[in-house]
Amino acid sequence: MKIAISGKGGSGKTTISATLIRLIARRGLSVLAIDGDPNPNLIQALGVGPGVEAESVPRSVVERREDETGATRHVLTRSIADIVSQYGMKAPDGVTVLVGTKVDHAGAG
Ligand SMILES: Nc1ncnc2c1ncn2[C@@H]1O[C@H](COP(=O)(O)OP(=O)(O)O)[C@@H](O)[C@H]1O
Ligand SMILES: [Mg+2]
Repeated sequence: MKIAISGKGGSGKTTISATLIRLIARRGLSVLAIDGDPNPNLIQALGVGPGVEAESVPRSVVERREDETGATRHVLTRSIADIVSQYGMKAPDGVTVLVGTKVDHAGAG
């Protein structure tokens, strides 16, 4: 099962995500949470101690490629297992979290 939560800033996405994630994990399911916010704070909402920073997943794990029809697709350059083993952070209730790339400099959109 995959659940995506998106919406307007300040509408409670992180709070609802963290609550759902921990409730699902407490039922014994394995949960991989991915924070895709360019200003991420899901690990704190999940109860990871203050001052702890996750190493964010580098942009190089995704590559833009053109397929035979000329359509552009985004593909992973490494396996999910490999990405999780290098960048996954352990959070309470056995949750694993990946923090997506942050905006680290200004540039073209
Ligand atoms: N149900 C709620 N009632 C009151 N305040 C809430 C509720 N859900 C979230 N908040 C507060 O609203 C603010 C924004 O929530 P947050 O989950 O960070 O939003 P988002 O991730 O969408 O930007 C936070 O200060 C949070 O504590
Ligand atoms: Mg948020």
